[in-house]
Amino acid sequence: MVVAIDGPAGAGKSTVARAVADALGFTYLDSGAMYRCVGLVAREQDRPPAEVAPELRIELGERVLCDGRDVTDAIRTPEASEAASRAAADPAVRRAVVEQQRRIVAHGDWVAEGRDIGTVVAPDAAVKVFLTASPEERARRRAAQLGADVRTVLQEQAIRDQRDTTREHSPLVAAPDAVQLDTTGLTLDEVIARVAALVDAVR
Ligand code: CDP
Repeated sequence: MVVAIDGPAGAGKSTVARAVADALGFTYLDSGAMYRCVGLVAREQDRPPAEVAPELRIELGERVLCDGRDVTDAIRTPEASEAASRAAADPAVRRAVVEQQRRIVAHGDWVAEGRDIGTVVAPDAAVKVFLTASPEERARRRAAQLGADVRTVLQEQAIRDQRDTTREHSPLVAAPDAVQLDTTGLTLDEVIARVAALVDAVR
């Protein structure tokens, strides 16, 4: 089965999805890492992301490998975030990446995290959660993670939020049947417990 966790940058998706996957014994899928790989390589090679996406060999696990190269850290820089968000707005890139993601989650038990898991990648997901938090809270968490300035992160986040929610193809939007969970003011353990309870209810 698939547990879909979607939401904007900094809502806590990665931490929550990883923890829920661990708790349930499911495998974690970081769909954003794939857009990050495409964005990074397109930027490095100065090529259109749509050309890069279909031929890139992405391996997700403990480390993220792109054509065999370890890019785990390289894909997390602010430049790579920006490149990912741009690449992800291209429908040809999304087609190539979504096709791979659908193949990945077709068998086994997954906690998949992203922007369009519940709407596009796995519309039949058994559980759909849309995680949100206030923009300030999201920027605070991300800045702490990166050791960066909160105001700069808030500005960059606003640009990405705007692009992710207004793009023509698969904009960031909650699936109609997703459970919306605002994590502002909740501890990580509280969020994990709520998601785990949703999964227990359908198992
Ligand atoms: O961790 P954060 O939410 O900042 O980013 P991410 O999940 O790694 O995603 C990076 C970028 O990829 C986002 O800004 C989105 O534009 C894009 N993305 C997407 O379009 N669809 C997904 N399923 C996952 C990510």
